[in-house]
Amino acid sequence: MEFTRTLGRSGIEVSALGFGCWAIGGEWQDGAGQPLGWGKVGDEESVRAIHRALDLGVTFFDTADVYGTGHSERILGRALGRRRDEVVVATKWGNLFDPDTRTTSGTDDSPEHLRRALTASLRRLGTDHVDLYQLHIADADPERAARLRDACEELVGEGLIRAYAWSTDDPARAAVFAEGPHCAAVQHALNVLQDAPEMLLLCERADLASVNRSPLAMGLLTGKHAGRRSLESGDIRSRPPAWLQGFGDGTGADPAWLARVDALRDVLTGGGRTPTQGALAWLWARSPRTVPIPGFRSVAQAEENAGALEKGPLTAAELAEVERILQR
Ligand SMILES: NC(=O)c1ccc[n+]([C@@H]2O[C@H](COP(=O)([O-])OP(=O)(O)OC[C@H]3O[C@@H](n4cnc5c(N)ncnc54)[C@H](OP(=O)(O)O)[C@@H]3O)[C@@H](O)[C@H]2O)c1
Repeated sequence: MEFTRTLGRSGIEVSALGFGCWAIGGEWQDGAGQPLGWGKVGDEESVRAIHRALDLGVTFFDTADVYGTGHSERILGRALGRRRDEVVVATKWGNLFDPDTRTTSGTDDSPEHLRRALTASLRRLGTDHVDLYQLHIADADPERAARLRDACEELVGEGLIRAYAWSTDDPARAAVFAEGPHCAAVQHALNVLQDAPEMLLLCERADLASVNRSPLAMGLLTGKHAGRRSLESGDIRSRPPAWLQGFGDGTGADPAWLARVDALRDVLTGGGRTPTQGALAWLWARSPRTVPIPGFRSVAQAEENAGALEKGPLTAAELAEVERILQR
């Protein structure tokens, strides 16, 4: 049986797991040279991984115009090709970037930029509409964001987008977008190590989907960082910005985070799950509104992550055991 979820009040149905397309954008940086990608990736492998995901029943893909300064959208568009209408495509706007130097240069929260950015995303994705369009400025001014929400309503009317969301961890900001009739979701950080009860409450009250970024705690929950794995220099985790938690100063994963990953291993790997699949199963058990969007960079990761769909959520007893172990 297919395991699906609905994007809030939009009624748009997606596989309960989406694929996050940040890493497949390849390397890019900010004006100060801070890496913003996940290091080098192979485009052919990225395309094969997306095809594998499609074959395994994944119908939801999340990207952003800025990932790889346009490259992620291009790769996703190329991989989907004629199968585009079989899936739900989410992308984001709000950042400024130069694809020639693969460098970002700030943000733009004007309605004029919204239109320009959408036109460019449609071209890169090779499509005539975006299913879920997301504001990518997490801390944008709420009053200015209300103008963007209203502009999104116009775009829905024109058939250029089907629904919209704000990518933010702040429930008060998400609530501003939720006032728009075609707001369908909020994208926010949620994983077994980083709960977000207030945001989930808002999703419940406002009938929004909770699209979960960093569902694997940026790789920590896969269990493979236990041996202080070294990360390449173009990988954002090798020089973590202030908002990126769990990777310490870049010399290796934070021991306190690894200890919690270790403590959860047995309960998450019940039912024949891998640690990665267990982390996704926790999200589905946490709320009926969650749609995790784990990142990937290989066919093997695509298969393991999509394979979690068959195993479904943790049981209520396993969920309670997780909370007991973490003393929440
Ligand atoms: N502000 C925003 O809107 C925002 C911010 C962050 C993320 N996102 C979205 O959320 C998506 C996912 O979040 P995230 O990128 O922060 O991280 P994540 O999903 O928590 O972790 C993804 C990383 O874990 C590793 N991984 C994935 N599957 C694996 C497997 N089966 N086995 C071993 N390792 C595996 C891969 O990196 P390695 O192989 O290098 O370890 C992968 O890039 C992004 O792609 C993006 O679409 C949005």
